[in-house]
Formats: sequence, C-alpha cells, structure tokens
Amino acid sequence: MRVPLLDLSEQYRALAQPIRAEIEQVLSTQRFILGPKVKEFEQAIAEFSHAPFAIGVSSGTDALLAILMALGIGPEDAVITTAYTFFATAGCVVRVGAKPVFVDIDASSCNISTPALETFLREQCERKDGTLVVRRTGEKVRAIIPVHLFGLCCDMNEIHRIAEEFGLTIIEDAAQAIGAEYPFVDGTRMAGNMSATGFFSFYPSKNLGAAGDAGLIVCRDHHLSEKLRAVREHGMQRRYYHDVVGGNFRLDEIQAAILKVKLPHLNQWAAARRTVADFYRDEFTRAGLTGKIKLPPEPYRDRVAEHHVYHQYVIRTSDRDALRQHLTKSEIGTEIYYPVGLHLQACFRNLGYREGDLPTTEQATRESLALPIYPELPREAQRYVVEAISEFFNR
Ligand SMILES: Cc1ncc(COP(=O)(O)O)c(C=O)c1O
Repeated sequence: MRVPLLDLSEQYRALAQPIRAEIEQVLSTQRFILGPKVKEFEQAIAEFSHAPFAIGVSSGTDALLAILMALGIGPEDAVITTAYTFFATAGCVVRVGAKPVFVDIDASSCNISTPALETFLREQCERKDGTLVVRRTGEKVRAIIPVHLFGLCCDMNEIHRIAEEFGLTIIEDAAQAIGAEYPFVDGTRMAGNMSATGFFSFYPSKNLGAAGDAGLIVCRDHHLSEKLRAVREHGMQRRYYHDVVGGNFRLDEIQAAILKVKLPHLNQWAAARRTVADFYRDEFTRAGLTGKIKLPPEPYRDRVAEHHVYHQYVIRTSDRDALRQHLTKSEIGTEIYYPVGLHLQACFRNLGYREGDLPTTEQATRESLALPIYPELPREAQRYVVEAISEFFNR
C-alpha cells in the first residue's frame, strides 16, 4: 500500500464546487489584489481567532518580515527564538538587519524551553541605561518569537511572565498552529492571538492551505495594525505617499476567496487529525513500542478542546534513519522536520554557534520523524503505518 505523507486531493474534491465558484467570481470582477475577498477573509479570521485586527499578507514569511519592520526592529537589535523551526523564523530577523539569538528547546514538546529562555536573559543579558542588552555583543534585546511547532502551543503563561519582567515584545509564530488553543491564565486563548502580534502561514500543506502562498498577521493594537497595513503596501497610507519603507506583502483575492471557503472546516479537520493521532498513540502503545519511540506529548489535553492541531505527527527514535529507510521501502511517506538546527546552518555561520551549543535541539534533529497525518487519511493506511513500524522494531 502506498501512503503519502500528505494528500490534499480528497479535501479538494469535497470543496471543488464552492472553490471554483469563488474563483469564477474573482475572475468575473477582475479585482485581484486587496479587494472584498481579502476584507471578508480578514474579518473571518479575526472572528475565528478572537483577534481585534487581522491583516492578510502574501506568505507567513512576509507576515513576520512585515511585523519586524513595523516594530522597527533592525540593526543593533537581537531577537530571541528557537533553532528548531522552519528557516523563515530566523531568516526574517536577519533580513531586517537584526541578530537572531537561539535558545534551546524543551526535550518533550520541542518548543522553546522557558527555563533556557530565562537563564539566557538572567545570565547573558544586562541593563545598560535602562535598555536590556546582550552582555557579550551589546545588541538590544527587543523581542521573543515563540514558535508553536507542529500545532502545539508553547508554554505561553511562562513566556508572558518572562517577557513582562524583561520588557520584551512577543511575536507568535503560529504558522503551523492555526486553530490551536492554550490554557492561558485568564482563560482559553488561541494560537497567534495571545500576545502583541502573531502570524499564520497558508502554504498549501498547512492545516488551512491556500492554492499558492498566503499568510496573515493578527494583532491587538490599532496603531500597530495601521502600521502593518502600510508596511504591507510599501509603507503607503495615502496613495503614492510613503511615510515608511515597506514591501509588497499583499494578499491576492483568489487566495483569500479559497481560504474563506476552507476556514469553516478547519476545526473539524483538526479533530480528524487528532483522531489519527489518538489511533497512532493507542496502537503504538498496544504494540509495546513506546519504549522504542517517543510519541508527541499533549500537555494541554485535559484543559482545552483544540489542545493540539497536529499539523505534523512527529515521533522520535534513536534509530530514525534506519526506520525512515524501512518506511520508504514500504512506500510510506515521511519527512524530517528539521535535519539541521538553524544555529548550525551554513548561512548563519557568522553568528558563531558551534555543535553542542544547543544539545536538545541537536538531539531532536537526529531523532525526529514525521509520519503521515491528514484529516482524510484512511484507517487502513494508519494501520499499515503502525504495522510497518512494528515490523521494523521486531525484526
Ligand atoms: C514555523 C514556520 N514559520 C514560518 C513559516 C513561513 O511561512 P510561509 O511558508 O508561508 O512563508 C513556516 C512555513 O512554512 C513555518 O512552518
């Protein structure tokens, strides 16, 4: 049996009619950029994630770039994040001229470690004339980018406590976690909307995927939202008058129209993903494999409904590469998220990190393997994946 890591064809078949009707409408009006469909989609996402402001943009990457530009983060600034994430998270920081500072991850969730974050701030930073700076290099520490990796929220209560103490802005990278909930101190909150600002990616393979690139920023402050709207269009608030330098980060009408059709189904798709995850958990446990593979943790399961949206189902094993080979032979699609920590990427050599600097991140890059998960994944395919993994460990 062939089991792909992801197959979007069923989803499209189910929604082909309304999607085509929406595209046809855009084509017939010939209004392609930042028109009524973008506005409607922004409103729908604002309602969905209980965010006061939503700004549709051209991708998740451009969302983060626009946020950093709107916050005026640039040369001589430092931004703290994780090295165990997609490249864009740190790439955007470098593109605005600032320096990414990587702290290690939590061994269980693989999200940014709050003890490591706090230790870095207490031990390697100091206040100079009221400004928090990195002691060794002197950059101003401006922001933290927690990444809700694979669809599980970071420990945001702790991150907020730390950010408040040190006066840092939180930018949530919710590219992989739209719809995920978190038990915040003052009640249930949604990924992306627990902090000053956050963003989503609608890359086609995401839980809410466009038919190309698309992204969206949410924020809580009117002034920041206006700035972000300006930065999205070359810094224009009035046509052809530029108060600040921005970019072309505009969202297409066709993408917004497609996303608007899909959004009402998102929670139901996440529930179907959790059903797959539950099956994997039960069957791996029944097969006695939990000593051989580590399953993804579900720390908020009993406290919020959308406790994990399983953008990816990532197991960990010290025998990762051999297991992957075995699964490939069995025609089962897998992927490694991520094979190299960002601190060790060739383009970041100048940041001065060395192997061993982030041991938990580095271990995760050696052990992680993503298995097939998507809402329409047939039960027999799920069973076949479990059988193939059992076969590998019982060989
Ligand atoms: C964690 C993370 N951040 C940022 C991005 C960037 O999003 P995009 O691919 O839409 O530019 C992605 C998406 O791939 C991501 O997974």
